[in-house]
Amino acid sequence: MAAKLQAPRGTFDVLPEDGERRTALRESADALLGLAGYAPFETPVFEDTEVFARGVGQSTDIVQKEMFTFEDKGGRSLTLRPEGTAGACRAYVEHGMHKLPQPVKLRYWGPFFRHEAPQAGRYRQFNQIGAEALGSDDPSLDAELILLLAELLEEAEVDCRLRLSSLGNADTRAAYGEELRTYLRSRQDQLSDDVRGRIDANPLRAFDSDHAGTKAVMVEAPLLLDRLDSEDAEHFAEVRAFLDDAEQEYDLDPTLVRGLDYYTRTVFEFESPALGAQSGVGGGGRYDGLVAQLGGPATPGVGWAAGIERILLAGSPGGELALPVAYVAVTDADQRRTAFKITEALRGQGVQAQMEQAGRSMKGQLKHADRLNATHVVVVGEQIEVKDMDTGEQRPVADINELLTRVAL
Ligand code: HAM
Repeated sequence: MAAKLQAPRGTFDVLPEDGERRTALRESADALLGLAGYAPFETPVFEDTEVFARGVGQSTDIVQKEMFTFEDKGGRSLTLRPEGTAGACRAYVEHGMHKLPQPVKLRYWGPFFRHEAPQAGRYRQFNQIGAEALGSDDPSLDAELILLLAELLEEAEVDCRLRLSSLGNADTRAAYGEELRTYLRSRQDQLSDDVRGRIDANPLRAFDSDHAGTKAVMVEAPLLLDRLDSEDAEHFAEVRAFLDDAEQEYDLDPTLVRGLDYYTRTVFEFESPALGAQSGVGGGGRYDGLVAQLGGPATPGVGWAAGIERILLAGSPGGELALPVAYVAVTDADQRRTAFKITEALRGQGVQAQMEQAGRSMKGQLKHADRLNATHVVVVGEQIEVKDMDTGEQRPVADINELLTRVAL
């Protein structure tokens, strides 16, 4: 017997019930982001590897360990996108979007790929919803984006807390990096091997470590938030003022480290206790140097992405279709063409309608209608009758108009 085939490790199938919840989430996200002017936008699921190597950063886990990279038949190195921001900036430059009125506001939804060890809430193919605003460094954009994600998560009934910080600019970060390296070297015997090995490449990641010795060292470490220059400190104060005005709660957390190298100034992450170890449900920040790093004109940007699967694990976006459901039952195979026409007419009126398509007995059809939560069953026989599934009452209809009126109510 042939071996049973399964979806690849770390991937999953979306079955219909989950599909309904995803659709509901997507509709609420589209409405929310659309109202704020974020236009639908897509990039390919694979890009030149260079986009991520330059964009996400050579020293990150994503680029070092997690990318699905392959050579195409022409010998070009391509990578399945591990995230959406680098591709969005690549597209912004490629299509000369800096010539459009700024900021350019984009939203996206789709699959992303990271070769991580799979566990609950962590997959190798997952989906993100994201939003990016390019071309302005106005702090109101940082605040607007944070509030949009907060509202999206609230609508999806995800219970979470917001962590917020600022990473300043590249110069402050470089100076602070040196200060932190010196500090880490002075206590390197207490650090984990992993953190010690990365003191030069990415000292900030030490804040992310679960290692007890490292954690103790980090409690006393100097903080970047205390080293911001006056412009960045002012920018961050303005972001916070907008959030305070909106009564958005957050934890100021100078140890917040995001797993991507492009961030400057504002960074944030929403965490949900319901998710356990993979608590990050969505996060983002400002990336004022990324477009230039990818070969474009100096352009500020800010945005976020949230994991669809994590939102669905932690929350419960409403998935019920509000439309009435009708089931068109067939008593005699000869009536199938009439039943088919009635089904089409019902759909034309906005009624979700299905006809019998598996040769069931009348009893079987009524049972199936019940399973589908049908509000009405249209029984097509010698004459046409409508059964109200709530009251159980079954009465003939004179014509199609009466039928439509009775079922649509
Ligand atoms: P990120 O924090 O790497 O940011 O990913 C955003 C969200 O994607 C996470 O909070 C999580 O919900 C979800 N996610 C990430 N990896 C996985 C996985 N292996 N399985 C399931 N869900 C996952 C970014 O990707 C940035 N591009 C966000 C951004 C946009 N920053 C600025 N603009």
